[in-house]
Amino acid sequence: MSSPLFITFEGADKAGKSTQIRRLQENLLADGKPVLCTREPGGTPLGEELRSLVMVCRQEKLADETELLLFAASRAQLLRETIWPALQEGKTVLCDRFADSTIAYQGFARGMDRTFLDTLHHFILGERWPDLTFLLDLPVEESFRRLHRVLQETHEKNDRFEEEGRLFHQRVRDGFLAVAQANPQRVVVLDATRSPEELAQEIWETVKRRMAR
Ligand code: TMP
Repeated sequence: MSSPLFITFEGADKAGKSTQIRRLQENLLADGKPVLCTREPGGTPLGEELRSLVMVCRQEKLADETELLLFAASRAQLLRETIWPALQEGKTVLCDRFADSTIAYQGFARGMDRTFLDTLHHFILGERWPDLTFLLDLPVEESFRRLHRVLQETHEKNDRFEEEGRLFHQRVRDGFLAVAQANPQRVVVLDATRSPEELAQEIWETVKRRMAR
């Protein structure tokens, strides 16, 4: 039997990651494969506390270094408490965002030193990067349009990242695409303007091929 996969989903806000994770979870379960879904930041009790610290806008400006370390702390805990044990038990793990988000947001968009980010990731996860990453790529304008619609419907407030301007989000998108180009074996880029059904089908076909290896 092939070993269980560690699969991550990356991309802009409102690119449809949660929908695709749910669809893939349903497909895996229908195929008799145990699966665990989690998210970053968060996924553990401590991680969820860190999430609320890092996401919420407050009067005190969070320093970029603090922000980075809060994401890193959440990731270190999630790997040890949840992801690695689940893989050990034979479960396929689906994670909403992971280390590529740090490279795109803190590295490309905030401009933090990328060699340092590599060192930090080596410290947190060694060589144990995900087996497969789906990058749901969305033009910034479309991401903003979707976000605006959701905020109008739900009356929720922007989080700290949604507050950032177009230039920041363009750098995030460029960062994700650069990560994909540098890791073609791991990262599959998908056009997130396609229908959820089409995307779910392509993701499922890709995962089945990977599992059959
Ligand atoms: P989301 O869970 O709703 O996607 O929100 C998480 C936000 O945090 C999103 O705007 C991206 C940002 N983020 C980072 O900046 N760095 C990271 O390492 C991670 C995991 C998320």
